Amino acid sequence: MNSNLFKKIGLVLAAIFILIQFIHPAKNEGESYGPNDISKSLTVPEFVQGSLEKSCYDCHSNRTIYPWYANIQPVGFWLKDHVDEGKRELNFSEFNTYKTKRKIKKLKEIAEQLEENEMPLFSYTLIHRDAVLSEAQKGEIIAWAKEGMRLLADTLNVPSPIDVATPSESHEEHEHHD
Ligand code: HEC
Repeated sequence: MNSNLFKKIGLVLAAIFILIQFIHPAKNEGESYGPNDISKSLTVPEFVQGSLEKSCYDCHSNRTIYPWYANIQPVGFWLKDHVDEGKRELNFSEFNTYKTKRKIKKLKEIAEQLEENEMPLFSYTLIHRDAVLSEAQKGEIIAWAKEGMRLLADTLNVPSPIDVATPSESHEEHEHHD
């Protein structure tokens, strides 16, 4: 290959990079709190709310606080993917639209994700150092989620899933309590 070809390839790549800067993926800039947010389903103490907002809401609510580099493509597309996927799994801004069973399941998953240090995503805390939760903060959220599960399960007259085995769940191994 001669250096002319490399030069051409470089120019094409540079042109593509410049062109995609004009494409902006839609941003997630709705309201975090509204008629269907989680506070309509459950009491959320201020300290729990503060932690969730700081560490989870960028991907699990209707409002993301974007870093400046979200305006650089393809980073913006990559972020959009995370937010879309995160919201599909759990959206605190729409929590009250879930059926009670789903609410209970989501609270259980929240407790599990925190116990296993799966959330917030590592790629996120790498940059957002202030989103790292202390052990105490994690403990507060887990205790709150478990209490919420119990209260919601009571309204259905079923036992809370933290007290019973749930064979339909794949991550059952973590659930054995004696
Ligand atoms: C950078 C974006 C991001 C942040 C911040 C984030 N999440 Fe997620 N979350 C995701 C994505 C993407 C998924 C879906 C893919 C997966 O499970 O990894 C997900 C999935 C989940 C799930 C469903 C997992 C399951 O059991 O299937 C729960 C629950 C969850 N997140 C809770 C949280 C909580 C609680 C926080 C804050 C402490 C948080 N997330 C912070 C992106 C994020």
